[in-house]
Amino acid sequence: MDILVEHGKIEEKEYEIVVLGVFENETSDFTSRSLQVVDSSLNGAIRDLLESKEFSGKLNTIDMLRTKDVLPTKRILLVGLGKKDSLSLERLRQVSGKTAVRTRELNIQEIVTTLQEFRLNSTKATAQAVIEGSILGLYQFKELKTESQSDSSSIKSILLLERDMGLLDELQEGANIGNIIAESTNFARDIANMPANIATPSYLSAKAEELAATFSLKCEVLDESTAREIGMNAFLSVALGSDQPAKLIILEYKPSDNEKLDTIVVVGKAITFDSGGLSLKQKLGMENMKYDKSGGCTVIGLMRAVSQLQLPIHLFGLIPATENLPGGKAIKPGDVIKSLSGTTIEIVNTDAEGRLVIADALTYAKKYTPQLIIDLATLTGACRIALGIYASALMANKEAENFKKLITSAGEKTGERVWELPLWKEYSTHLRSDFADLKNVGGRDGAAIIAGAFLSKFVEKGTPWIHLDIAGTARSDKNKAYIPKGATGVGVRLIVQFIRDLIGN
Ligand code: BES
Ligand code: ZN
Ligand code: ZN
Repeated sequence: MDILVEHGKIEEKEYEIVVLGVFENETSDFTSRSLQVVDSSLNGAIRDLLESKEFSGKLNTIDMLRTKDVLPTKRILLVGLGKKDSLSLERLRQVSGKTAVRTRELNIQEIVTTLQEFRLNSTKATAQAVIEGSILGLYQFKELKTESQSDSSSIKSILLLERDMGLLDELQEGANIGNIIAESTNFARDIANMPANIATPSYLSAKAEELAATFSLKCEVLDESTAREIGMNAFLSVALGSDQPAKLIILEYKPSDNEKLDTIVVVGKAITFDSGGLSLKQKLGMENMKYDKSGGCTVIGLMRAVSQLQLPIHLFGLIPATENLPGGKAIKPGDVIKSLSGTTIEIVNTDAEGRLVIADALTYAKKYTPQLIIDLATLTGACRIALGIYASALMANKEAENFKKLITSAGEKTGERVWELPLWKEYSTHLRSDFADLKNVGGRDGAAIIAGAFLSKFVEKGTPWIHLDIAGTARSDKNKAYIPKGATGVGVRLIVQFIRDLIGN
């Protein structure tokens, strides 16, 4: 898709359709210059529409107006922005997503928008939001449909039409950033939506290697025998019941010229299918367990975004990838294994497998002496019950106090909100085992936190660490303004924003 920024005026050139934003109950003195011009060219047609209440400007409502040859452009797509003082980047992303999808439904191939006229925060951030919302909203997963079934048309280009010549550079910059971030999120969505018979651990490692070749990242994949040699038995125990070989995927991004950069390690859970293992899940909804690799997919998308944006940070992505199946060699409830850290674990429930693979990856991360570790995991059903689909759960150690504030504000900015759950020491008492140092489950009460408490045991003392449970946010079961049904790619936008804020970019 081409992303364009051009100097021009809606009244001067012929476009198939142009998107204009309208505030709620704004019936005269329109904020948008383009809207003013269009309304007066059409003899107050927009004002009439608003006064008649046929179109109210309520958030995300859409109406279409034909210009009847008064203007060179044939159609105007009016989109409601809601109340003027409530306009935010989030709302701009939403209306951009909505209008992009509507334009596609009209079989038009070029989106021309003027929504960046509502400069919020900065011109650059506004352009980013409009482009991001459009590209994210247009996302479709069509790879597995045969030609005849995938009938919807596609958008070829998005144009920010701008009256003010002096703003073009900033708009272009913001549009580029939005384009990279949204395409990287969609890249993560593509892998996460792929079913488990195709998206195996080997598939993920091939994707990571492909990405590394295109975007000058380093990629190393540890196979099972190497993982066994170094003692990653928590990780490997999950893979025992599957015929698919497990892979520990390691991606590294380092801008060439700088030696003294902060190092961050991001770990992503990639269970390509979570059947529960011998602690088998119920069949209702089990198809959604292909999404249990979402954390890993986000890490892949994140590496893509950060390398394309060339952010000055040294970033590692660690993706422990395996299936969790109940094959003949599968780990059994009651089995005890020795993790990479040396801590022994009694596996009471084989469905609490995410914490096992993340635990070894957290230990592995030590070798990079990072300033911060972040993990992303669809870790617990309890997290979805606690926070629903509107926030990822955040847990962190004391060392991460400042990072926690920064990631929380990045969540507000991007709409990928996080909400903290406490990691008080009492939660850890539930993990005491009669047979090993730890057991992998601690009952139903506070299960999302107990999972976080389990992970905390594998983080090197003194290393700041943030855990994000994305069980409620990684998948959407309905179409939202810029989040179509299916994998959301949650975390890519959040962590890119976090890193940009951290380095003052
Ligand atoms: N992958 C699941 C968590 C999950 C559930 C993610 C629903 C998204 C939607 C995880 O591996 C799991 O099964 N967790 C168990 C933990 C329990 C055994 C302590 C759970 O949440 O039931
Ligand atoms: Zn599980
Ligand atoms: Zn799982």
